[in-house]
Amino acid sequence: MQLSFPTSRPRRLRANKLVRDAVAETSLSPDDFIMPIFVKDGAGKEPIDSMPGYFRWPVDGSLVEHVEEALSLGVNKFILFGVLPDDVKDPEGKASYDPQGVVPRAIRLLKETFGDRVLLFADVCLCEYTDHGHCGVVVRDGRGWRIDNDRTISIYAKEAVVYADAGADFVAPSGMMDGQVRAIRQALDAAGYQDVGIMAYSAKYASAFYGPFRVAASSAPKFGDRRTYQMDPRNSREAVKEVMLDIEEGADIVMVKPALAYLDVVRLVKDWFPWVPLAAYSVSGEYSMIKAAAKMGYLDERLVALEALFAIKRAGADLILTYYALDAARWLREGT
Ligand code: PBG
Ligand code: ZN
Repeated sequence: MQLSFPTSRPRRLRANKLVRDAVAETSLSPDDFIMPIFVKDGAGKEPIDSMPGYFRWPVDGSLVEHVEEALSLGVNKFILFGVLPDDVKDPEGKASYDPQGVVPRAIRLLKETFGDRVLLFADVCLCEYTDHGHCGVVVRDGRGWRIDNDRTISIYAKEAVVYADAGADFVAPSGMMDGQVRAIRQALDAAGYQDVGIMAYSAKYASAFYGPFRVAASSAPKFGDRRTYQMDPRNSREAVKEVMLDIEEGADIVMVKPALAYLDVVRLVKDWFPWVPLAAYSVSGEYSMIKAAAKMGYLDERLVALEALFAIKRAGADLILTYYALDAARWLREGT
């Protein structure tokens, strides 16, 4: 093999768009995307200050139209997050398993309207539903506070069954409690929902990139932080353990979150578990950073957003949760 100049000229394979496309190692399509949707009570869509171009949607015809638009662009997978007013929150997040809550109502509306044309994921956590904003039940003791892991996962199990009842295709536990996937799998099976899948937020880091989401979902912790349950950003080998445990507990799809700052983790997990579908969550901070820089004129939004999505795919993600799903689908249609 002659690898050196002048015989070898790598630039031949970059000479024009057709040859570049011919040798491209990575492809991106709307099929790869899962689009987050925030749903809320009351009429009218609300802009989210921390996420320009993103909205909280009411459970009515406007949500149906929004999803219709996504479908017309080939985006057919959605993950739903409920946004609640403070006065319905309590220490245990009981509203999370209310069958009349916004998320179950949104699932029913979208499934009645679109049936199998949409794949619906429901985020399972308590932070949108607890008055303190933590992802689990808080217990106070002499030394401060801690999260009651096992009580929390029994509530996640109820929440997951409510979403399955409503028609969710997948539930997606995001609270990083130990044993949450097993508890949910057992509860779903006991309720007859063997066919409802679990997409586990397996390696979810204690990340400051979630800032804009917490404004969007009013789910920021009122005290302390999430470091006793979410992973330490300094660790990657630990992600292999977390993913392995979730696979053993019954996860159908595993996830690394955030995406851009954790592409080494995406690659590591893909290499360790190549047979398991892997999702990467390009989080709110990744979206809002690009939006802000583009607004300032520092970056080209379209080029940067697509480059980031290709990078996440290249690192090994099979699915990407992204707030750019609609824009990216449009841009891909126009041609890269
Ligand atoms: C709730 C949840 C969070 C995100 C998804 N599910 C926030 C958090 O853990 O504080 C973050 C998503 C994003 O930033 O886009 N457990
Ligand atoms: Zn949470």
